[in-house]
Amino acid sequence: NSGSFNVTAFTEEQEALVVKSWNAMKKNSGELALKFFLRIFEIAPSAKKLFTFLKDSDIPVEQNPKLKPHATTVFVMTCESAVQLRKAGKVTVRESNLKDLGATHFKYGVADEHFEVTKYALLEPIKEPVPEMWSPELKNAWAEAYDQLAAAIKIEMKPPS
Ligand code: HEM
Repeated sequence: NSGSFNVTAFTEEQEALVVKSWNAMKKNSGELALKFFLRIFEIAPSAKKLFTFLKDSDIPVEQNPKLKPHATTVFVMTCESAVQLRKAGKVTVRESNLKDLGATHFKYGVADEHFEVTKYALLEPIKEPVPEMWSPELKNAWAEAYDQLAAAIKIEMKPPS
């Protein structure tokens, strides 16, 4: 029951770049995901207020046990969608469909700016695991994959009907 959203062509070169870097990142995706989210909150501290499990908690953000699984989910979904873009020609989403994702983000008040900050923060940790693999083309491939996924979610951001 995955959602879909038609996209413009994602090239074979772009897919190869993303697949290769994702394979290199997989083994420490949890750690990368945590860094990714802490970076979002560094740039946009107010984004913390969107998360129920952070908002009502006295635990420092980086120690909140609920953040890492959530951060990992977002990171993993973005990576997997990137891989699928070329194969399926569309954004496919596991576990929860795009309508549910859209409804959740609508409900919690996630705005366009949050998606922008998140994109910026996502493109930083992809440099780390294999620095010599990083290139502007790799960054652009990830950026496009993220944009397509975010666009697919945003289309579904409306009150549940
Ligand atoms: C929940 C994915 C972008 C904030 C979720 C969930 C997933 C997810 C899978 C849990 C599913 C559910 O409860 O229905 C994604 C993906 C994104 C993205 C793939 C980008 C492509 C963002 C951004 C923000 C955000 C930019 C804000 C900075 C939230 C919040 C929740 C949530 C507040 C609810 C968490 C809670 O239970 O308190 N997201 N997300 N997401 N997401 Fe996102």
